[in-house]
Amino acid sequence: MSKQFKRTLITSALPYANGPVHIGHLAGVYVPADIYARYLRLKGEETLFVGGSDEHGIPITIRARKEGVTPQNIVDRYHELIKKSFEEFGISFDIYSRTTSDIHKEMASEIFLKIYENNGFQEIESEQYYDEEARQFLADRYITGTCPHCGNERAYGDQCEQCGTSLSPTDLINPKSALSGSVPVMRKTKHWYLPLNEHESWLRQWILEGHKEWKSNVYGQCKSWLDLGLQPRAVSRDLDWGIPVPLQDAEGKVLYVWFDAPIGYISNTKELLPNDWEKWWKDKETKLVHFIGKDNIVFHCIVFPAMLKAEGSYILPENVPANEFLNLENDKISTSRNWAVWLHEYLKEFPGKQDVLRYALTANAPETKDNDFTWRDFQARNNNELVAVLGNFINRALVLTQKYFDNYVPPIGELTDYDRETIAEAQKVKQAVEQNLETYHFREAQKEAMNLARIGNKYLADTEPWKTAKTDMSRTATILNIALQVTANLAIVLEPFLPFSTQKIYTFLNTGKFDWEKLGSFDLLPEGHELGKAELLFEKIEDETIDKQVQKLLDTKKQNEADEYKAKPVKENIVFDDFTKLDIRVGTVLECEKVPKADKLLRFLLDDGLGKRTILSGIAAFYPNPEELVGKQVCFIANLEPRKLRGIMSEGMILSAENADGSLSLVEPTKEVKPGSQVG
Ligand code: MF3
Ligand code: ZN
Repeated sequence: MSKQFKRTLITSALPYANGPVHIGHLAGVYVPADIYARYLRLKGEETLFVGGSDEHGIPITIRARKEGVTPQNIVDRYHELIKKSFEEFGISFDIYSRTTSDIHKEMASEIFLKIYENNGFQEIESEQYYDEEARQFLADRYITGTCPHCGNERAYGDQCEQCGTSLSPTDLINPKSALSGSVPVMRKTKHWYLPLNEHESWLRQWILEGHKEWKSNVYGQCKSWLDLGLQPRAVSRDLDWGIPVPLQDAEGKVLYVWFDAPIGYISNTKELLPNDWEKWWKDKETKLVHFIGKDNIVFHCIVFPAMLKAEGSYILPENVPANEFLNLENDKISTSRNWAVWLHEYLKEFPGKQDVLRYALTANAPETKDNDFTWRDFQARNNNELVAVLGNFINRALVLTQKYFDNYVPPIGELTDYDRETIAEAQKVKQAVEQNLETYHFREAQKEAMNLARIGNKYLADTEPWKTAKTDMSRTATILNIALQVTANLAIVLEPFLPFSTQKIYTFLNTGKFDWEKLGSFDLLPEGHELGKAELLFEKIEDETIDKQVQKLLDTKKQNEADEYKAKPVKENIVFDDFTKLDIRVGTVLECEKVPKADKLLRFLLDDGLGKRTILSGIAAFYPNPEELVGKQVCFIANLEPRKLRGIMSEGMILSAENADGSLSLVEPTKEVKPGSQVG
């Protein structure tokens, strides 16, 4: 059914170099791509894994303006940070480069020109907003104004963040330039468009007929785009950050970021293999696979293929296994709201635990639907699976060998039926993992691989070599030999998923790496082979550690709420007489206690200057020790019609201020006054 290829080229989306990378990036794109690359290499297949940073685009210029530095400055900073995070997580790129490299600029210009010469573009004039003060055309994000749907005065030209509607700049009421604050004017501008409508029929054929095996989320998105009908798309912009359009009459125009970025895959290949890159991109026997997130599907399945086709000499992707999104503790990951687990922070807070995160993210990968990362799940994956199953099995196998056989692989004797069954079951793992990896089911693949550790654990529990050691040393030898062979098999099968831990297993076993082919063999470690020193592979993660992470997120949430808090608009004006109708006074608290069976209410007994007055107030949650209020002065409305609450007559209302987070604080005079003093 499937085509035979000679080699595989794996790409993973180039992240924007305008901020650090987080667990969502890792789970959706880089870990699956890395698993796939490592697997193919282990199988001895010719494989290339290409990555890099996406360094053009408006978000980068916006960040630069905010910080008062150049865009180059921003991308230099984040490219290094991102690159380092990926390295530390063992993402095994053959090259990780960047789209501000000279090779890339040349490559992008060359491809643009080739398409241009092939008459692959349309030149179209249109009217766009222009800032006469800043003397430049305005990107949609650089125009703000009032949202026609919800009235938000700070909507952007591409989207209103208050009501979520996507907008175009001309929808905005009272548009303003974010650059100069001036009112932009409409001005004619010319751009180059890729006429996607002309590519529609081969795209339909290629995807809808030719690639029914693509993941249903990917296939479905393509189908709905194609069914809606494709429109020409501009591939240039009026901007000063980007690769100049390589034509005579193109002053001030650059390639649109989504035109140049995917070409980065090609330029980075060329940077790595200056003399040999073309076979990876132009030979039909190369299998090209793009790993991306779901927001990138249309660019990788429709726009980029159309560009390559228009150029004429490139292959098209064989698959685009896009993932859905990973949420964090039930909320969308967001860079601007700092709602994320940043990789560089994780590395500091969980040193040496890269594999734990890789494992938890794969176990929970958003392959078919959006998924949620929670710290509790992370802890459970570590404690119940990595420690209790994998680590425990390997440790027992090694420690028992040390104890009974002086750390040498013992001889294998006669096999029981149960031994044979165990071996047969262990041998099934290879195919199950392969089948899943080859169809991009990484989550299931990892589960199958871990199953081998479960088989091993069960085998030791059932055969109890610590008991046989008392009576039958040759039986014990056989059991431990089998357990050690399973351990070696685990090192092979888990290496794509847990590269750091499998490296350790090899050290414990005192052996070099085995190829994938060897998976399922039970003669990997010869009798008499001396093992290395065993250590614990994983350690338990305590509640405390997890609580700290959860608290960190709660703090972020609080901070965000405080940042988002805007004082409520002032109510309509009233005449002075209306105000004088209110009789506001100060009283001294004589008694204060919780109202039984009403968890929100406090009962105050006040000295109001005339006598004693009872008032109920719904602030119990914010004053857990109400008796501490005795002696304090509070303000209250004295002439509010009394009303009965929970059978108690409340004679007025005590004033409190509401905080951004909804918490309440009693209003108190700054100097003590006589009870009954009027406020006004
Ligand atoms: N920078 C883009 C994003 O983060 C992805 C670019 S992928 C590429 O969404 F193909 F264009 F490189
Ligand atoms: Zn709106």
